[in-house]
Formats: sequence, structure tokens, C-alpha cells
Amino acid sequence: MHPVGFSHWKVEDQALWLTGPTFSARIEALPHAWRVLVFQRPQDAKKGSWAVVDERRLPIVFDGQSASAEGLPLLALSLSPFSFAFEGLSASGLFAHTLATWRGDEAAAFDPLGLARPEAPADGHPLGGGFELHLKESPGRRYFGLGERTGFLDKKGRRYTHWNTDQFDHQETTDALYQSHPFVIGSESGKAFGLFLDETWKTVFDLAATTPEESTLFTPGPTFDLYLIPGPTVREVTTAFAALTGKPPLPPLWALGFHQCRWGYPDAETVREVVANFEAHEIPLSAIWLDIDYMDGYKVFTFHEGRFPEPEKFFAELKEKGIRTVVIVDPGVKKEAGYSVYEEGRRMRSFVETPRGDEVVGEVWPKPAVWPDFSRKEVRDWWAGLHRFYLEKGVAGIWNDMNEPSAFSVEGMEEKALGKTLPLGARHGEKSHAEVHNVYGLLMSQAAYEGQKRYDPNRRPFVLTRAGFAGIQRYAWVWTGDNKSHWGHLEMSIPMLLNLGLSGVAFAGADIGGFSEDASPELVLRWTWLGTFYPFMRNHSGKTSRRQEPYAFGEPWSGHMREAIRFRYQLLPYVYTLAEEASRTGAPLMRPIFYEFPEDETAYTIHDAFFFGPALLVAPIIRPGKTHRAVYLPEGRWQDWWTGEIFEGPTWIVAEAGLDRIPLYLREGHAVPTTDPRPSETAVFDPLIFRVFPEGQSEGEVYEDSGDGEAAGQRSRLEVEGGRARFSGSREGRTVRVEIMTTKGEHVEVTLED
Ligand code: GLC
Repeated sequence: MHPVGFSHWKVEDQALWLTGPTFSARIEALPHAWRVLVFQRPQDAKKGSWAVVDERRLPIVFDGQSASAEGLPLLALSLSPFSFAFEGLSASGLFAHTLATWRGDEAAAFDPLGLARPEAPADGHPLGGGFELHLKESPGRRYFGLGERTGFLDKKGRRYTHWNTDQFDHQETTDALYQSHPFVIGSESGKAFGLFLDETWKTVFDLAATTPEESTLFTPGPTFDLYLIPGPTVREVTTAFAALTGKPPLPPLWALGFHQCRWGYPDAETVREVVANFEAHEIPLSAIWLDIDYMDGYKVFTFHEGRFPEPEKFFAELKEKGIRTVVIVDPGVKKEAGYSVYEEGRRMRSFVETPRGDEVVGEVWPKPAVWPDFSRKEVRDWWAGLHRFYLEKGVAGIWNDMNEPSAFSVEGMEEKALGKTLPLGARHGEKSHAEVHNVYGLLMSQAAYEGQKRYDPNRRPFVLTRAGFAGIQRYAWVWTGDNKSHWGHLEMSIPMLLNLGLSGVAFAGADIGGFSEDASPELVLRWTWLGTFYPFMRNHSGKTSRRQEPYAFGEPWSGHMREAIRFRYQLLPYVYTLAEEASRTGAPLMRPIFYEFPEDETAYTIHDAFFFGPALLVAPIIRPGKTHRAVYLPEGRWQDWWTGEIFEGPTWIVAEAGLDRIPLYLREGHAVPTTDPRPSETAVFDPLIFRVFPEGQSEGEVYEDSGDGEAAGQRSRLEVEGGRARFSGSREGRTVRVEIMTTKGEHVEVTLED
């Protein structure tokens, strides 16, 4: 390991180039970030990215000490040894393990990341090399982001590996989960910066874990590609990161409703029964999901003829009732002679190969299985085309699972060396699995998304994925994998989804009720209330756990579940308006309290309450048997959504919530658009009812359009002042109302001016 240093610099082609005896660097200014790319091999000067989509570059000026570009904070640089300072962050040095040290046994001797596996090629390349960036720590700094992570909101004090992993049995201390987002937000005294290490290898962030004085970012690849993102607050870092890695497309309205799923609905008849139960209990439902049970022998792009006959008719029948169908698609393709997907893929040499050029063969649900190499465009195009099979049958969305990729075994490899995925030395064209692994799920989702765009251009694509990398939001929503029916997992879903939201993934959810083990009715009910404020609201459970559909437990549970789910539908105008905002700015729907109140130090310590958009503060009940909890209300006034009581913040209150509610507070100055609690095919809401803070001046917005397809939308505003309400949008042919709740809990209508 030796320090990286440079001796010369020049500004050319909108980049600052640094050169030295061993390494070179290319420093670029983007509208929202500085990029520092350090490399050794000349070809890496043009390193691309699977995550970053912003190609704009700004002119740079360098005076030998600091680089400047319009709109960006200065980047102070020392050339030898190389270090930098930016927005309160200072690097104490970048250290390299050069490619030469990665030969033969030496590779095994230096292996902080556990990459030197038996299958690594003998010459060390392309697993070789590696960099460590050391950052000076500050005691008051907190860290957020890092995508999908266990633990609380602040990520400081632990070591995080970025390596997509099928973590069926994860709990609080599990490190890597299904997604990798090597992106972190540092925040101190209300000021924030972001760091994105755009390396797909198995990178590690040590955030003041080994020593409180220092944090370290490691990558084992041949380049070090870092983006430095300015604040000033977490909000700006988050939206800048979304500008860098892409914003989520506007989803279809139905996707924001309630979804029902379960592994183990064995046939279409069972699914019909589930739907009939929703109807009988008058619980609204927007989508039903088919897990691996629908396939013939776990062969993707098939339906089992006996158990799921005539799928088109079945899906049309559901669609008539306003219910969409989503099907699971795993990457593992059954290796079976005569199976067209396998035969076609083999003919095109589409599958991941061993260094000798054979297909990597293993086991996932199908056995034996092979894996498409999504890193190659022609393979993605082929896979995208296969989706026509589902779309022609009326499938509305695609669920990509097991795409870390997960492998239960691989032929010729010992279980222990495997790590439940493909061998690191497996080939993806010119690249190794070690490099491609973390983007496998991203690229699979891209194919699923593009397939829908291609064959169903009049609808908005819908993809849900388990695995992903920074930028996944461009193609897919995310769910947090196999959680458990435990109160701790309900609680943990909150910081997990909040940090995913700060990492660019605005649309995400956890399995409501928990995936594995048996749920109690109280847990499912409290979780359903919480899920009302998940961007993605789906009840899902594993094959061996007790049934947990909202009607499964009888009364009083089903009645309360109905209320919770209907409440989501009532809020749909607000949810859809936030979704549209996310598609323009990348702003998450679920936001930590400090996102809205960056100056409030208490807000930074709260992981179990959050904002849903700017107007609603949500404080779920997270423990069994409880009907009370402490809630922190920041500065300003707040109205209890249910009782009308007004509180003056900053304050701690004890909220009361029976099974019929979740503690929920309307923020002063805000108006929330709502509608009747039922699914709607269009996103022009009728009636449109604004719930307004009862005192002073309030404002609210609503975004409306046809709810699917390309249709141009309209944002309308409501302004209320001194008892007078003005609405800027169209009221023609529908009811638009404005309501306040008095402190006594009575609904009073405010007259809307013409
Ligand atoms: C994985 C998924 C889970 C799914 C199951 C069967 O465990 O995470 O959601 O139900 O596979 O497909």
C-alpha cells in the first residue's frame, strides 16, 4: 500500500488531468458534483458508469491548489501525496495497492475484501489493484444513505460491505443485503455533503468503525471513481444524487394502491378465492401478484397449463374488477433441452460463462439453471423481447427476484467458496463476475423495463426488483426482501426505507406483515397502518408462514385492516402528487424528520417516525399491546389528524392510537388533497377534498392526469387564507371541496371561491 501522488497537472477537454509516476487522475465538474477518477491503465481514463446518467461537464479552473467551477464549492487539492478538502470534509490521503501486488499468492496475502477466492484467475487481473481513501472524522458528523441497510438511521460506527446478497435470514447486525448503494451523506450541524464511490466491485465503507478518528472507503478494482456532492442540506444532496443517477419515472396510478401477494397460491382458483375475499370484505385491491407457483417447472416465460390455464382470460377477468396482475421473473433459466428460452439463449451465447467458455451451471428454483449475462446489451435486448409473452397476456408488471444473482449451488464449486452467488471469476464477456455482480439486478431490471416500453408503449412500465445498484430507480421499485413477521422488522423497515429514499430510491416498501414466520393479527394490522405510508404497499408472505391477507384473521382485525387500506386510497391524490414530484426531482416520499427540519438536532435522532411528503408526520406504533407512544413534533403547529387537537412544537407528546388509527399529524401551513377511499382508473380525482390546517394560511398542490400512459398532467394549487379558499385547477364536472377539522374533531367545509 503506498500513497498516491501526482507531479503534473493540466486542464484540457473540460477536465483537470493529474499525472504522476504510477497513477493519473481525471477531475471533472458536473452540475451537481465533482468527480475524481484515479487510474493506472490508460484505457481507464474513459471509464464509464452503470449508475451515473448526467453527461454534462462544466469548465474547470485550477490554480495549482484549488479547482473551481460555476455553481460548485471549491475543491482544494494537494498533489503529492494526493489529498483533498471539500465542504467540511477532508481526505487524509488516497492509498493504492497497485496491480503488480496482485499476483499469485500475494493476492491471497492482501485480501481485506475477501476477494481472493480459489476461482480468481492466477494473474490477479481483473480482480487486482485496489484503493483506500482515508477521511478525517469529526465527532459531530452523522452518516445517512447507503441504500438498503439494517440498523438505525445514523450509519456511523459500522463497516458496510457493498455486495448484493440473498440474505434470507437477515437481522439487525447483518451487513450486506440485496442492494448496493455505495453512497453516503455526511451531515453535521445542519450542513451536508455526499460521497458516491462509483465502483461496482465489492467495496467497503468503514464509517468511523475501526477508529473514531477516521473513515475509510475501499475498492478492490483498478480505478477509484468518486463523486463529491455538495449540500447545503441533506435534501439538496439527495436530489443532486438523483440528478446524477437518474430520477424514477412516474408510475401508473394503480401501482400506488394496495397489492396482495403470497408465495404458495398454488393455482388460479386460489387466487380467485383471494380476490373474492377482498370483495366480500370490501377491501380495495389494485394488484394481485403471482409468485413462482405460476410457472411450469420454474421455467420463466411459461404458465403451468393445469394450474394456471388460459392466463389471458384470467387476467382480463381480474382487470374487469380493476385488479392488475404482476408476475415474478427470476434470472435463473432452466437448462433443459427443448425449452425455447434456454435454447435461444444458448444459440446466442447469452449466458454467463466459466473462464473456459462453458456455461456456468447451478441451481436456484430451477435445477439445473444458467444465468443470462445482462451486462451485454444484446442479451438485455433479447431478454426485453421475451417479455412480450407476458404483456400479450395482459400482465401489468414484472417482479424481478433472485437477481443478486442468488445461486443455491454452482457445479464444480464448494458450497463455502460460493457465497450464494456465481463464482467471482465467471465471465461476462470481457468482464468478471466480481465487477458485474453488483449491477446484475440493475441491468436485469433495465431489460424488464425496456421490454414493457417496447411492447406496451401506451402504458407506464412497472418493475419491482430485489437486487439493485445506485441508479436502480430509473427502472424499478424496490422491496426489501425476506423480512420476518417480527415487531423488530416492522421497526427496522422505517430507517431502511428512509435511507433508501435518501439514496435516490423514492419508491420502495417492505413486505407488510413480514415474509417468513407466522404473523399475529396485531402485527399485520399495525404493519398495514405503517404500510399506508410506504411508497409501495404490498402484503406478502412466505410459503410456510400462516396466511396473513388483511381478511385472514376475522373481526375485529379485518375491519381495521379495511380502514387502514381505505385510508391509503383516500390519500391517493396526495400520494400521486408526491410520486410526480419524485419523478421530477428525485425527492423521496418517506422522509426523515431532519429532511424537513435540518436545523433541528433532535430530529436527527429519530428513526421510528417520519414525514410522508412535506405535510404529514407519521409516528407508527411499533410494539405489541401498545396504544401509546412518544412523538416528537418539531417547531411549528401540528394537528392530530384524527382528533383535531393542536400542538405547538418543538415538543414531545404522548400519542394515543387504538387499533383504528396510526398517530398522524398535519403540519401547519399545509393542505392535503384526498378523495373517496376506492381504486380509481384515472388520476383526475372526483371528489377532490382538501384537508387543510385549520388556522392561518395554508397551501397544497395536486397533480392529476390520466393515471397511466404518456398523458400530459396538470398541477393545481389550493390557497387558503383568512377563511377564503382559492383553487387554481379545473372543477368542471366534479366536486372539489375544502375541509378543516375543528379542535373538537368536527369536519367543517370552507367555501371555495369561484
Ligand atoms: C424469495 C423472495 C420472496 C419470494 C420467494 C419465492 O425468497 O424474496 O419474495 O416469495 O423467493 O419466489
